[in-house]
Amino acid sequence: MNEASSSDCHHGFADKSDDQVLALRRLIVSYRVSQSLFVAARLGIADLLKEGERSVEYLALKTGAHGPSLYRIMRLLASEGIFEEVSPEHFKLTPLAVPLRADVDGSLRSRALFEGEKCNWQSWGNIMHTVRTGQSAFNDEFKTVFFDYVKENETTAEIFDNLMATQTMPWAKAVVEAYDFSNVKTLVDVAGGYGALLTTIMSAHPSIQGTLFDMEHVIESAKLKLKEMPEIGNRCQAVGGDMFKSVPAGCDCYMLKYILHDWDDEHSKLILRNCREAMSNTESRLLIIALLIKPGNEYDWAKSVDVDMLVLTGGGERTVEQHQALLESSGFRLSRVISTKCDLSILEAIPV
Ligand SMILES: C[S@@+](CC[C@H](N)C(=O)[O-])C[C@H]1O[C@@H](n2cnc3c(N)ncnc32)[C@H](O)[C@@H]1O
Repeated sequence: MNEASSSDCHHGFADKSDDQVLALRRLIVSYRVSQSLFVAARLGIADLLKEGERSVEYLALKTGAHGPSLYRIMRLLASEGIFEEVSPEHFKLTPLAVPLRADVDGSLRSRALFEGEKCNWQSWGNIMHTVRTGQSAFNDEFKTVFFDYVKENETTAEIFDNLMATQTMPWAKAVVEAYDFSNVKTLVDVAGGYGALLTTIMSAHPSIQGTLFDMEHVIESAKLKLKEMPEIGNRCQAVGGDMFKSVPAGCDCYMLKYILHDWDDEHSKLILRNCREAMSNTESRLLIIALLIKPGNEYDWAKSVDVDMLVLTGGGERTVEQHQALLESSGFRLSRVISTKCDLSILEAIPV
């Protein structure tokens, strides 16, 4: 090996004409960007820039950060199009940085916060455990299951439940557009988090009586949020419980959004059977609102969330056929699959 190539290899430099190598190198180290986004989200940098450009000195003072280190992180993000250095050590928002703000529709701040949370970050660091054993890296790392950990860790719970709610807002509108809820009188959102989906549907359909069902600690926080929406709160009851034991009975439509992917087939069947048992008549419907794994090599959010589930909960995304098999072994028939304008599809099932 001559001197030049030995030095090139040592520094990891690729020939600049080799686009594939450069593209792959960028992907391999993309966690550096991901963690820098976590820092920016945690410090609320995008919110501090919403009125216009600011110096790093100002940002560091406001956030209690070490200025020179914050500058280097901002410079890396700017090199990815997130923030722009408009004059030395002064940054402004770019369109790509706007969703990092907490107060915008479609905010991704909670997403960035959750990705850097110890429980997520350490689990991904242990991904080899999952690929060798098929078991959740989270369970191995934290010696408990994901939702019990969330229950015991207030900060993580707040970040996770906020992530679910903010992620759901734009999706909920797409679900309302795609599915005809006009005949529904009583609607239950099973494991509905803070109720973002349920309250969006109820706003669009003022005659629906809603029931939000989730773990006790989630429902305690959800009740506070429902109080801020009196026009919904009066029509919506919030019930704490365990969906592996039972779900509220006697309603005509049950929703499971982003739920079955948290669980393996055995747990998923238990949830489905409890929904089936809660349905009073054969007119009732179940809506599974989920990402669907499609064939092909295209970029697909579902494939990313699928591996996230593999690592964190031991669950995973499913195809239509896999959902159909689950439904058939739990007392349902899949009647329709409805696409929406967002990543989610609606699988309507009827009790048999
Ligand atoms: C991935 S989140 C989805 C939340 C909501 N459906 C959404 O799409 O935004 C999963 C939800 O399941 C709830 N959950 C987990 N285990 C539960 C249990 N045993 N009984 C009731 N809810 C549970 C969690 O608290 C959480 O709100």
